[in-house]
Amino acid sequence: MNKELLEFLKSRRSIRAFKNEQITDDELSAVLDAGVYAPTGMGTQSPVIVAVQDRETKGQLIRMNARVMGSGNDPYYGAPTILLVFGAKSCATYFEDACNVLTYLLLAAHASGLGAVWIAREREMFETDGGKALLAKWGLPDDMVGIGAVALGYAACDAPGAAVRKKDYIVKVL
Ligand SMILES: Cc1cc2nc3c(=O)[nH]c(=O)nc-3n(C[C@H](O)[C@H](O)[C@H](O)COP(=O)(O)O)c2cc1C
Repeated sequence: MNKELLEFLKSRRSIRAFKNEQITDDELSAVLDAGVYAPTGMGTQSPVIVAVQDRETKGQLIRMNARVMGSGNDPYYGAPTILLVFGAKSCATYFEDACNVLTYLLLAAHASGLGAVWIAREREMFETDGGKALLAKWGLPDDMVGIGAVALGYAACDAPGAAVRKKDYIVKVL
């Protein structure tokens, strides 16, 4: 049993404050390389990850997400890097596949000493004309479904404590 790895899994927390400084290319590659090893149904590797560091595109994503959220705040918390994960509707397990990729990206960020948090609302964002235009710009089919995103960067805060786990989380049938 690898107790260190089990403790590592339990110690990942969502980070919602980031330094302005961009992460290095090596750090970005390390996180992405791990993400593409997430399990996918029948090994289809159906998801696509779009890594965004371009200032203008990030601004667009922030506005699109905030519009869905109905808020004026930055839903990506000022993260210098945003990783969007898309599912391919043609694949029966597109949703599960993309969620696995998102989880792997979060764990890889944690392993790399980076701060990260899963961000929602990409489904609605990429159903809009603006979202479809971005998909076209990136050479992706317009039926790709935005499943989620990871806001990524150097943490500008301490990791919060984990919430107490609910008592009935596990049912053992032994
Ligand atoms: C499907 C999903 C959507 C989430 N969406 C957001 C989000 O839009 N914004 C945010 O700040 N956190 C979001 N989170 C992060 C959760 O709030 C966070 O994982 C949860 O509170 C547990 O905290 P922990 O990650 O530190 O263990 C999301 C997490 C998941 C799994």
